[in-house]
Amino acid sequence: MHNKIRLGLIGGGPRSFIGPVHRIAAYMVEEFDLTGGVFDVDFEHSLSFAKALELDSNRCYKDLDAFITGESKLPEDTRIEVVVILTPNYLHFEMAKKLIEGGFDIICEKPVTVYASEAEELSLLTQKHGTKFCLTHTYTGYPMVRQMKSMIEEGKLGRIQKVDAQYYQGWINPFIHDSEKRKQVWRLDPAVAGQSCCMGDIGVHAFNLIEYTTGLKVQKVLSDLETLYDDNPLDVDGTVLIRMENGAKGVVRSSQIASGEENNIIISVYGKDGGLKWAQEDPTYLHYLPEGEPAQVLKPGNPYNSEFAMDSTKIPPGHPEGLFDAMGNIYKGFSKAIRGESYFNGAFPGIEDGVRGMRFIEAVLRSNAEGQAWVEI
Ligand SMILES: NC(=O)c1ccc[n+]([C@@H]2O[C@H](COP(=O)([O-])OP(=O)(O)OC[C@H]3O[C@@H](n4cnc5c(N)ncnc54)[C@H](O)[C@@H]3O)[C@@H](O)[C@H]2O)c1
Repeated sequence: MHNKIRLGLIGGGPRSFIGPVHRIAAYMVEEFDLTGGVFDVDFEHSLSFAKALELDSNRCYKDLDAFITGESKLPEDTRIEVVVILTPNYLHFEMAKKLIEGGFDIICEKPVTVYASEAEELSLLTQKHGTKFCLTHTYTGYPMVRQMKSMIEEGKLGRIQKVDAQYYQGWINPFIHDSEKRKQVWRLDPAVAGQSCCMGDIGVHAFNLIEYTTGLKVQKVLSDLETLYDDNPLDVDGTVLIRMENGAKGVVRSSQIASGEENNIIISVYGKDGGLKWAQEDPTYLHYLPEGEPAQVLKPGNPYNSEFAMDSTKIPPGHPEGLFDAMGNIYKGFSKAIRGESYFNGAFPGIEDGVRGMRFIEAVLRSNAEGQAWVEI
């Protein structure tokens, strides 16, 4: 029995959306021990959260600088080893930089930074310091997304000839039409969200799923973005034509004003010999459309799946696993990297996926600004 990996959180406290997903994922894997952090921007909230979780309040810090100083003074065998960055986007880069330089390994939320140049800098810094870096593109943790990746890798679809990734939400619709209400949404504030709302927040997941499942890079993009109102600075919807490195054409469709939609992300990949389709609102079904044969529905936990997909389920078939489990699978893969053990190709996204994502977002913005021109990534 080995010691658990000591984990710290920056953000992710009582008032956060994605925090519970990370905490439960870390717990699920039984490899991590939540030890401390800066759980909320407000120290009082952070402290009461630490208390509720029965954590040592000395390991609850008022800000990141205090966290790094405090942890660095502790004996190495008690110090927090991996830090999870769960704050709004504009803080990721500076925080990651300080943590890399402080000797911590990192799990970071997407989008990894605000600018591609920052992601590139982080990539160089991780190499220089030997930092292990995980970027939580959560959907890559679903067993049937991993099965899709495995089947494409095995050549089941033949040459890839069409890709289509959709990520439709409607949650901004109730805010966007009221100029006061929309100012309250941090994802619409460039100072907090960065250069993009829709593409940076969710389009980048769709892009990531294309590169993740096909193993092919998107080479260039042509985009058409929507802000709806002149005084709204960031995109809330966009359609992006893409050209893959093998010449295949495709599309990324992303929206936060698709009224009534919840979290409708769908990835479809079509090759010469068949197609594969997966939808996150129905995550236990992978639709396999072999050319000239009846369509099949593949489900997790069955031995016909790849070793990688099988390793990504915890309970027998027919017991649905979801978002928490997908994040848990990413934590599981990263724990192996931290321990120096072998892991499946694709077990967790890393800083290079962050660089690709940021380059995609910037290329999409440039294409739109230049009047729907093709832009190389
Ligand atoms: N992987 C996914 O599917 C997914 C889903 C949701 C959000 N996210 C990403 O997670 C990040 C957080 O999003 P959210 O929706 O949870 O945001 P949120 O607004 O719900 O929570 C942000 C948290 O950060 C804390 N915080 C803010 N400034 C801080 C500081 N200086 N120090 C410490 N804590 C601070 C806040 O107190 C809060 O707990 C974003 O980058 C977002 O893009 C990813």
